[in-house]
Amino acid sequence: MARITVVGSLNYDLVTFTTKVPEGGETYQADAFENHLGGKGLNEAIATARLNGSPQTSVRMVGKVGGDSFGKELKGALVNAGVDVKYVDTVDGVSSGVAVILVESSGENRILITAGANGELKPTHEEYNDIFSGDHSPEFVMLQNEYPDTIKTIEWLNTNKPDINIAYNPSPFKPELINERTWAKLDLLIVNEGEAKDVAGQLLPDTVFGESNDDYFQLAIKLRGLLNPKNIQTIIITMGSHGCVFFGKGMDSPQFVPSRKVEKVVDTTGAGDTFFGGIISQLANGHTLAEAVTFATCASSIVVQSKGAAESIPTYETVQKHL
Ligand code: RIB
Repeated sequence: MARITVVGSLNYDLVTFTTKVPEGGETYQADAFENHLGGKGLNEAIATARLNGSPQTSVRMVGKVGGDSFGKELKGALVNAGVDVKYVDTVDGVSSGVAVILVESSGENRILITAGANGELKPTHEEYNDIFSGDHSPEFVMLQNEYPDTIKTIEWLNTNKPDINIAYNPSPFKPELINERTWAKLDLLIVNEGEAKDVAGQLLPDTVFGESNDDYFQLAIKLRGLLNPKNIQTIIITMGSHGCVFFGKGMDSPQFVPSRKVEKVVDTTGAGDTFFGGIISQLANGHTLAEAVTFATCASSIVVQSKGAAESIPTYETVQKHL
């Protein structure tokens, strides 16, 4: 039985929809305000569970919520989506993570996060041993940068469970976490075009890359070469409305998949997390990387057409109908 574990954040998203973002010192009348459930970790877990078409693959989350009503709601949403929450702890006396999000008419967002309980997610060696006990094949762990210990999780897994595929989306981007030593422990990396260039700026300082597809192919080749060669050694560079470039083990060269045209982009929040969940659920269920990228591209094109992160993530069946 395949197992997917998301280690990461759960946030309560406070979202304001506006035609314009105010400058410093300016007050502006927005159009609407909504609460949504989010956090890159929670979005990834819900996406992976909803997009998982196989009863043979289980999805669970490791995270922390505060002892408040937000925490109950966040945990409840995971349960409703079929995510195992045994390792989502409630920390009394601490608030749940919160994201303040501004969404402009183009659907583009600006996000400010406050860690709250996410900042307490620092598993000990014994806790990791308990969480990752048992043998599952294939096994994937999905990580991002919204809790303090991402690098420690990568190091623990690489040392103690080297067969688990470590899939990492280094978002929000933190340049201080980037070095060759850590990169060599990762098995799958998903970066957007800006992050890919920032990473290259640090790890490949003598190389200059432009904006053409060919430049991204070269970037994918070089960045993939820095990943762990023992497991799936895969890189995916997403380029928003342009599409994405991917390069995995067994492929002769990188490939490109265009994005899907949508009538109106309403809110891009959670699109990257949904893409990530689509990729990992497909790979865990034995699909090729090309199939996974096509599926995930379709799933994220559905998410951007409605408001909110977690709530707008489609099911496996919905994506199948749109493929
Ligand atoms: O990736 C989108 C997510 O980023 C939002 O749901 C917000 O909570 C922030 O974590």
